[in-house]
Amino acid sequence: MALDEFVAELDQLAEEAADSFSLASDASMLEDLRVQILGAKSGQLKSAQKGLGKMPPADKPLAGKHFNQTKQRIEEAYALAQGRLDSASSTQDASCFDATEPGSRPRIGHLHPITQTVQELKDIFGRLGFSVAEGPEIEDERHNFDALNIDRSHPARDPLDNFYLQTACTAAASSKGEGEVSDGRLESPWLLRSQTSTVQIRVMEENPPPIRIVSLGRVYRPDTADATHYPMFHQIEGLLVDTDVTMADLKTVLRIFCSSYLGEEVHVRFRPSFFPFTEPSVEVDMQWGDGWVEMGGAGMVDPNVFRAVGYDPDKVTGFAFGLGVERLCARRFGITDIREFFKNDIRFLDQF
Ligand code: PHE
Repeated sequence: MALDEFVAELDQLAEEAADSFSLASDASMLEDLRVQILGAKSGQLKSAQKGLGKMPPADKPLAGKHFNQTKQRIEEAYALAQGRLDSASSTQDASCFDATEPGSRPRIGHLHPITQTVQELKDIFGRLGFSVAEGPEIEDERHNFDALNIDRSHPARDPLDNFYLQTACTAAASSKGEGEVSDGRLESPWLLRSQTSTVQIRVMEENPPPIRIVSLGRVYRPDTADATHYPMFHQIEGLLVDTDVTMADLKTVLRIFCSSYLGEEVHVRFRPSFFPFTEPSVEVDMQWGDGWVEMGGAGMVDPNVFRAVGYDPDKVTGFAFGLGVERLCARRFGITDIREFFKNDIRFLDQF
């Protein structure tokens, strides 16, 4: 076989192959063509290669080179066709977009169960004529203790039971040897409030009687976390001051509140107790199954508290209460461990 004959045969094969590949209208047609032209066993290129053997030895190097170039040309034509079919199939997908198909729903967040509870409690007390008051979470000792008739030696002020803050003021006092309490511990004048009763004082300092407020917010105590305790939790504080307020008013308000929030069938129980800022004082329990769960404390505002804010205890009387928000919400939904509220496990939160 002459060299020019061999070259002409290869050039024709390359041209035809490029034409055929460019006309392939789908992947299986292209694959058939690939086997027919480039197939390793009996493809057209393979048969053309046989001509190489019949070449005169002097022509072999040129013929071999041309064969390799032809093979490359055909492979490129194949790759081009493949690319064309691939991009065609993806644009076809886009043109098949069905606008009537239901889409994937975006996940919309919602309020945390404690935030929802806080709002609901505000609503219930709002309907009973209580307005909402706020107070700071970082407090001084006057509002957290002194004005609430909790004197300096009271165990509730123990640094181990409160989050006192290390402030610049404390540091200065300690370097001068001031600010030490009798047993050598340092007492700071600032702390994270341990109760929302601080807001009672703030409201009475700013407003003359009558008062009818609730205050909801976070409080902090260095308790070890367990099913019913957490170092940060929420309280709802209530304060009503007027003339001739009695314990019967307190009980009525708490009973009405309990049946609005937990249902008519849930009973409330009051146990005699002690708080420095109320006299008499009670512990408030609500029914849970066969037993009772302690929701907080309450009582008639102590005359010393009225004196501390400049009210005349001979003219006004009042009641106050403080209940745990997590416990109320847990009671409502049958949650047996309040730590669930703070884990932020989406499987828990999604249920509210
Ligand atoms: N502040 C009390 C507590 O945190 C609860 C309370 C509030 C008791 C108001 C009486 C009156 O335990």
